[in-house]
Amino acid sequence: MYTKLLGILALGALAFARGNRPQPQKTCNVPAIGGGEDDGPAILAAFKECSSDAKIVLDKYYVVDTLLLTKDLDNVEIELSGTVQYTPDIAKWSPQSLYLTYQNATTFWFLSGNNIHLFGGGTLDGNGQVWWDTFNNTHDSGTAGGSSTTFARPIPLTVGNATNVVVENIRQIGSPFWNNFVYQSTNVTYKNINIRSVSYSSSPTANSDGWDIYRSSFVTIRDSVVVNDDDCVSFKPNSTNIVVANMWCNGSHGVSVGSLGQYAGETDIVANVTVTNITMLNAQNGARIKVFGGNPSPTSTVGGGDGFVKNITFKDFFASNVDNPIIIDQCYSTAVDICAQFPSKLTISDVHYINVTGTSSGRDGSVVVDIECSDTCEDITATGTNLTSKDGTATYICKNIASTSELDFTCTAPA
Ligand SMILES: *[C@@H]1O[C@H](CO)[C@@H](O)[C@H](O)[C@H]1NC(C)=O
Ligand SMILES: *[C@@H]1O[C@H](CO)[C@@H](O)[C@H](O)[C@H]1NC(C)=O
Ligand SMILES: *[C@@H]1O[C@H](CO)[C@@H](O)[C@H](O)[C@H]1NC(C)=O
Ligand SMILES: *[C@@H]1O[C@H](CO)[C@@H](O)[C@H](O)[C@H]1NC(C)=O
Ligand SMILES: *[C@@H]1O[C@H](CO)[C@@H](O)[C@H](O)[C@H]1NC(C)=O
Ligand SMILES: *[C@@H]1O[C@H](CO)[C@@H](O)[C@H](O)[C@H]1NC(C)=O
Ligand SMILES: *[C@@H]1O[C@H](CO)[C@@H](O)[C@H](O)[C@H]1NC(C)=O
Ligand SMILES: *[C@@H]1O[C@H](CO)[C@@H](O)[C@H](O)[C@H]1NC(C)=O
Ligand SMILES: *[C@@H]1O[C@H](CO)[C@@H](O)[C@H](O)[C@H]1NC(C)=O
Ligand SMILES: *[C@@H]1O[C@H](CO)[C@@H](O)[C@H](O)[C@H]1NC(C)=O
Ligand SMILES: *[C@@H]1O[C@H](CO)[C@@H](O)[C@H](O)[C@H]1NC(C)=O
Repeated sequence: MYTKLLGILALGALAFARGNRPQPQKTCNVPAIGGGEDDGPAILAAFKECSSDAKIVLDKYYVVDTLLLTKDLDNVEIELSGTVQYTPDIAKWSPQSLYLTYQNATTFWFLSGNNIHLFGGGTLDGNGQVWWDTFNNTHDSGTAGGSSTTFARPIPLTVGNATNVVVENIRQIGSPFWNNFVYQSTNVTYKNINIRSVSYSSSPTANSDGWDIYRSSFVTIRDSVVVNDDDCVSFKPNSTNIVVANMWCNGSHGVSVGSLGQYAGETDIVANVTVTNITMLNAQNGARIKVFGGNPSPTSTVGGGDGFVKNITFKDFFASNVDNPIIIDQCYSTAVDICAQFPSKLTISDVHYINVTGTSSGRDGSVVVDIECSDTCEDITATGTNLTSKDGTATYICKNIASTSELDFTCTAPA
């Protein structure tokens, strides 16, 4: 009786130490065929065999030419210590990748279920160069430069329809599009992710966001390095309760709320976001909020949506050589005349800039802050701001900010 009780206590302690995950019952090791053959079917077979209370080991070099639709996982450990490389077969992937109902985004891998831990020091290789070079010549894109249905550029990893997920110690290279998509999920944490979307030809990388978050809450992204040419992290419609911390971003377009308000008739909410300890180098933007303007058409996909942005904090944000260290733009991807006639209906409030420091690139002369709201933005505050342009001067442009006295810099009206 005592041994039985001790056994139960030991099991309980073990479950506690492992964050209440029972030990995997079963392990599936995935072999690699080699010779460029498709390892997708073997990976899918392992996810089927080891779909609950189990561990999947991906320790080889895998070539993947098949959609990875790995759903209904329950308490699964995925050790990726090898490499998953997607084939650069555009004609095949464009129709075969999974369509994700937002901005025509599609994915190579839809990882879904409850209690998933993806880790192991391995690599996801999106073979993006082929996509970037093709895109450079076709310019086949959707609205605002996004994906098109005829030329899909799949996302290497989507955590979708998922709860309680941890992704850590993974390297991502050459994504054709966004690197990570958090889609309709709750309680997802990324740690120690190293992202590199860098082109080796004269074609730029396109839409190489580190992360996009959509219809998801309680998402944490931390301790990661991103070298790319689009948003470091982007909070798309209905991102709530988000923490982004300890990030090093080089070449990006900023840590961005939005774009929002793209679709007429839709309500977009981004709320309860904390962005802290960010190093933002050689970037287009730093702490950014971007919203489409309004639009007269009730079926517009280029602006006209409503909603709100509320309770956003950017803290300990260091910018170096950044075009717009702090920016709020409510005419994103919208022609000036259309935006003037049909202003954005999305409201912005409760935005706090604490200790945003560093230098702008000088691209916009001495402008280091440009916060322009369509309707009045309430409760915007700034403390500890220490930004200068290259020549040491600084100009702060503000429009429709209710409480300029709560900003620690002196506003100038836009020209
Ligand atoms: C989706 O793709 C189609 C076809 O390429 C394009 O017409 C449309 O504008 C795209 N939608 C968005 C929102 O980008
Ligand atoms: C994700 O969940 C939505 C809503 O339940 C469902 O309609 C959709 O088919 C799911 N997507 C996938 C790929 O399973
Ligand atoms: C979030 O997910 C982690 C990892 O699965 C888990 O340990 C934690 O308990 C979850 N938090 C909540 C509030 O469910
Ligand atoms: C990319 O496009 C530019 C401009 O059209 C062109 O000059 C360049 O050669 C293209 N690069 C590649 C690798 O195709
Ligand atoms: C801030 O982030 C950097 C990584 O960019 C990290 O090295 C440093 O320890 C973080 N600082 C704190 C106080 O967490
Ligand atoms: C950071 O970006 C700059 C400018 O693009 C580039 O010259 C530099 O090599 C990058 N550094 C790293 C470590 O990626
Ligand atoms: C965002 O959430 C609100 C409130 O739940 C909902 O009305 C709206 O349709 C959602 N928007 C999107 C894009 O999912
Ligand atoms: C933001 O957080 C507050 C406090 O936890 C909560 O009451 C509110 O519902 C959250 N807002 C959204 C849109 O999730
Ligand atoms: C603001 O968001 C943070 C999370 O980022 C949350 O902890 C806090 O409760 C929110 N405050 C309000 C007033 O909703
Ligand atoms: C302001 O931020 C910088 C860079 O993130 C950091 O080194 C410094 O300690 C912060 N200062 C205060 C007063 O928090
Ligand atoms: C602003 O930053 C510069 C450069 O890091 C520093 O020399 C200066 O002391 C800072 N000013 C304040 C008021 O913190």
